[in-house]
Amino acid sequence: MDHTGKPVTDEDFAGKWQLVFFGFTYCADVCPTTLSDVSTVLAELGDDAEQVTPLFISVDPERDTPKVMAEYVANFDPRIVGLTGSPEQIKQAAQAFRAYYAKVEQEGQADGYTMDHSAFLYLMSPEGEYAAHFSPSDEPAAIADEIRAYLEGEKTVA
Ligand code: NI
Repeated sequence: MDHTGKPVTDEDFAGKWQLVFFGFTYCADVCPTTLSDVSTVLAELGDDAEQVTPLFISVDPERDTPKVMAEYVANFDPRIVGLTGSPEQIKQAAQAFRAYYAKVEQEGQADGYTMDHSAFLYLMSPEGEYAAHFSPSDEPAAIADEIRAYLEGEKTVA
């Protein structure tokens, strides 16, 4: 489900490149940093950003309702699409990317827990094939350069 409450499947995003990140809105460091980087990447891509849909998929669907996701992604870039769903749907989405996440009980956190999660950004082709991934240490300008290489066909999906 997207952040407007509309049910979506991978077919809704076919035909465009996708930049996919798993995280949650209560995240204190990796998620806000990465989404801010995604916003910078989109800015670096300029008009080419129209060929890329950034997706932020919640691994904390209990708290991340569509409304919460809508407010959160708007803080970073209006082009970012927030996705959430049932715990089972989220599990399937994460498995498709082999993305790791786990609920961790922790005192002092809101609601007594936090979410551990992998921090890779995945670039997927318009056909839904994996193209590349980026880690939090990658500079937004370098990420934008690599994405552009795919958009222009200098690099192709293996
Ligand atoms: Ni996070």
